[in-house]
Amino acid sequence: MNSSLATVAYIGATILFILSLGGLSNQETARRGNLYGMIGMSLAVLATIFGPQVTTEGIPMIVGSVLVGAIIGLYAARKVQMTQMPELVALMHSMVGMAAALVGYATYVDPEASKNLDGAAHAIHAGEIYIGIFIGAVTFSGSVAAFGKLSGRIGGSPLLLPARHWLNLLGLIAVVYFGREFMNAHTVQDGMVPLVIMTAIALLFGIHMVMAIGGADMPVVVSMLNSYSGWAAAATGFMLSNDLLIVIGALVGSSGAILSYIMCNAMNRSFISVIAGGFGTTAAAPKPTGEAAEPVGEVSPILAAETAELLRDAKNVIVVPGYGMAVAQAQHTVFEITKTLRDKGVNVRFGIHPVAGRMPGHMNVLLAEAKVPYDIVFEMDELNDDFPETDVAIVIGANDIVNPAAQDDPTSPIAGMPVLEVWKARTSIVMKRSMASGYAGVDNPLFYKDNNRMLFGDAKKMLDEVLIALKS
Ligand code: TAP
Repeated sequence: MNSSLATVAYIGATILFILSLGGLSNQETARRGNLYGMIGMSLAVLATIFGPQVTTEGIPMIVGSVLVGAIIGLYAARKVQMTQMPELVALMHSMVGMAAALVGYATYVDPEASKNLDGAAHAIHAGEIYIGIFIGAVTFSGSVAAFGKLSGRIGGSPLLLPARHWLNLLGLIAVVYFGREFMNAHTVQDGMVPLVIMTAIALLFGIHMVMAIGGADMPVVVSMLNSYSGWAAAATGFMLSNDLLIVIGALVGSSGAILSYIMCNAMNRSFISVIAGGFGTTAAAPKPTGEAAEPVGEVSPILAAETAELLRDAKNVIVVPGYGMAVAQAQHTVFEITKTLRDKGVNVRFGIHPVAGRMPGHMNVLLAEAKVPYDIVFEMDELNDDFPETDVAIVIGANDIVNPAAQDDPTSPIAGMPVLEVWKARTSIVMKRSMASGYAGVDNPLFYKDNNRMLFGDAKKMLDEVLIALKS
């Protein structure tokens, strides 16, 4: 394939990626968005393999690597549970970071890459390598730490080293200093020492940054690392002089940054304070996720049959799904119950919190999979004022996103986070297995409110019982 044809293919792939991002922004067009992305990526890979930058001898190695990657990817996609998706995504981001760092080193030691470069061109080339390896190493170690936190291998509480901001600043100054040394190096051997030291600092920096972030701020970290992985890919594109990689990297980097901004708004947090870390360390420190709360009142349990009765008699019902619905895979039963109630003339709507579950759009994906109509699925802001006119608010495996302490208790680790105000409904029913806390590890006063009932048990099992009672 000659270079003009490769360029045309790259432009086609870029357009498809932009269309893909556009499609993914809406549930109804998300499938189409995915398809555009797949076609764009296939086009990009083919144009690269058969393009002018790859020699015929290199093709078998690339095809072999693609096959190995595809087999691992297929295996992971089939095996990974929906609830483990964020961990998998974090792991993938770490791969992008590692690739950027390795490409940086390979480019630096490759005499061909810097041949015929002098003056400004040489400085730009060295700058690309240095910055590329820095971003790659931060992304790699930060994503590995995020993987540890999201999979529960590392505790969710923020790790706060004494004088952590000074440590970060010191690290940054050292990175700039070694950058100068690197740029002034005359041989590859001379440049290697500052490069390796900077890589070590960047790796520590990535771990420190993510470890300092508290459990409830993890959504922002996930999207922030998504953005970093984009910039790491763009840096790789600069090092390899590959325009498509630069464009895709910039698309991923900027869309990840926008998502981080949206997440911060959803959590009512400033981006800088999230990055600086330490959220959730004041007064009431969070417990590890899943630990039982100290009883601070009486809870009123309810049976599935009584729940069905309340739902049948209601005019307006709001369903609030959370992480537990994903764990129990209860979305199909939720849909059946919704259909049954709607057939009986009950107005059923869904309220989706922006950080419900463990990844952006988690609940929307599950509800779409269960074929819940899009027009009854609302964002939190769209129906939060409607709870006082709601007869029953049913909370399915959600906890942090319906915690009134976020509004009432300024010392709570989640103070200020907007929540779905289910306690304002005539009756709220919380469906979960125990009194355990949610991801942020904080107690939930909702459980003890007079108008709240607890339906204890696995969400799928309980909802099956509710459905049977509704149909009988
Ligand atoms: P959580 O606060 O984590 O609460 C989920 C609840 O589901 C748990 O308290 C658990 O209680 C219950 N549960 C688990 N398995 C269940 C099952 N099989 N049946 C019934 N209940 C079950 O979830 P949430 O309310 O969706 O809030 C999301 C949290 O995750 C927020 O703190 C958010 O910041 C964080 N987070 C979100 C994201 C994104 S991007 N969405 C990413 C990382 C972290 P039991 O154990 O008692 O059953």
